[in-house]
Amino acid sequence: MTALVLFGGGGDLAMRMLLPSLYFLEHDGLLPDGLKIIGAARSEESRDEYVEKVRAAVEGKAKADDAWDDASWSRMKARLDYLAVDATSAESLKPLKDKVGDGSCTSFLAVSPSLYAKIVTAMRAAGLAEPEDRVVLEKPVGRDLESFRAIDDAVADAFSEQQVFRIDHYLGKETVQNLIALRFGNVIFEPLWNNLSIDHVQITVGETVGVGDRWPYYDEYGALRDMLQNHMLQLLCLVAMEPPSDLDPDSVRNEKVKVIRSLRPITEEDAERTTVRGQYVSGTVEGQRVPGYDEERGADSDTETFVAIRVDIDNWRWAGVPFFLRTGKRLPEKRTEIVIQFKPVPHSIFGDNGHEEDSANRMVIELQPEEDISLTVMNKKPGLDQRMQLQPIQMSLSWGVGGAGDKPPRRRIAYERLLLDALKGDSTLFVRRDEAEKAWEWVDGVSQAWVDGKVKPQPYRAGTWGPDAADMLMARTGRDWNTQE
Ligand code: BG6
Repeated sequence: MTALVLFGGGGDLAMRMLLPSLYFLEHDGLLPDGLKIIGAARSEESRDEYVEKVRAAVEGKAKADDAWDDASWSRMKARLDYLAVDATSAESLKPLKDKVGDGSCTSFLAVSPSLYAKIVTAMRAAGLAEPEDRVVLEKPVGRDLESFRAIDDAVADAFSEQQVFRIDHYLGKETVQNLIALRFGNVIFEPLWNNLSIDHVQITVGETVGVGDRWPYYDEYGALRDMLQNHMLQLLCLVAMEPPSDLDPDSVRNEKVKVIRSLRPITEEDAERTTVRGQYVSGTVEGQRVPGYDEERGADSDTETFVAIRVDIDNWRWAGVPFFLRTGKRLPEKRTEIVIQFKPVPHSIFGDNGHEEDSANRMVIELQPEEDISLTVMNKKPGLDQRMQLQPIQMSLSWGVGGAGDKPPRRRIAYERLLLDALKGDSTLFVRRDEAEKAWEWVDGVSQAWVDGKVKPQPYRAGTWGPDAADMLMARTGRDWNTQE
């Protein structure tokens, strides 16, 4: 690969995530020799001005991670270039093609998805979509199945599916990949990973941030389309999929798509009972007073900033095992976790000796704020009590344990892994077209059920875990959300 082109190279995603990730890869000697990194954006600025902007975006982050050094920066600087372009015009992209030269290029579209179709068409005309070139698409691609298809058809006219890398940055997170290692690298979990031993699964993605100045985008999408259609369904797939035959991109993605195909559609009749929509009103998050969504937006809106949903997977492995998913903005903590709740023992020989069945036999896969996998198991309380007392204890299978006494490895930005894989052409951790289509189809069913069933977002105070109905969703089935740290 000769060049990585960042369309939207001066924008928020590039400056906050992509360029710092590239610096870290440079620092660790992982970028391919001779790779040029070319920022391409509308604003007229010189290469030097761009390089300075990149340095400002990268230096603080690298220093905070103890990874800033002049040698790495000079290597990265030598790769950087900038070109002011109108990416929707083939004519304007010609000088970019000249910069890439005869080699191949990977183009990352870090721009508004409404421009994707026009940009790929212009790229094709400008010679930036040759068979050895690749394109990386950031989410959201479309806001429903129809708009997804319209964009993706234009992409398919320019690139074959093997050249397209649809990003879901959750797949680049270390613990998400560790879930694959845990499930398929050990023999002890897989025999239990089914409806005989698992009672239910919970997936929570809680955020403390509000929507802030992203509302023009967010108000059109809401939590269902912004988080559930992609990140949360991807997590669900990795928990629920059958063992792939190998780690080949299609082997893994074939298994994921089977899961999405097995999701039970949510109908208008179900919507009230199995889904909860919420929208935050003013409250206090992390000690700060914060405004409600409507106040931020400056007008009333029916967009949900919280969604909780019960998902059933209609296949042999998961029949009768509900998956409870919830995500929201302005929740009390930034917390992303997957909870696998195993069933209680069929008969307790310990009587009612105060053991907390609820949290025992539970695996918590924590992605944020810490990355950790822990298993809670029942254990004997030490002591000479006449009757044996049990207590739950938590065993950490933390990813950080590099080796006894070793400093845990630096926590990488998810984009580091994904950029590296895209440059190598490995699409295992990217979303295939049929996966995205099936996910949109299912999500379209949910939003249609909301429209038909007139399900409106219920208010929740910022700093709480969503509307009470989200607790009721679990309580109705005799379960509750995990509160264990
Ligand atoms: C993005 C969503 O895809 O993921 C944002 O558009 C959300 O709304 C973000 O805040 C969360 O990512 P992370 O990695 O911070 O959990």
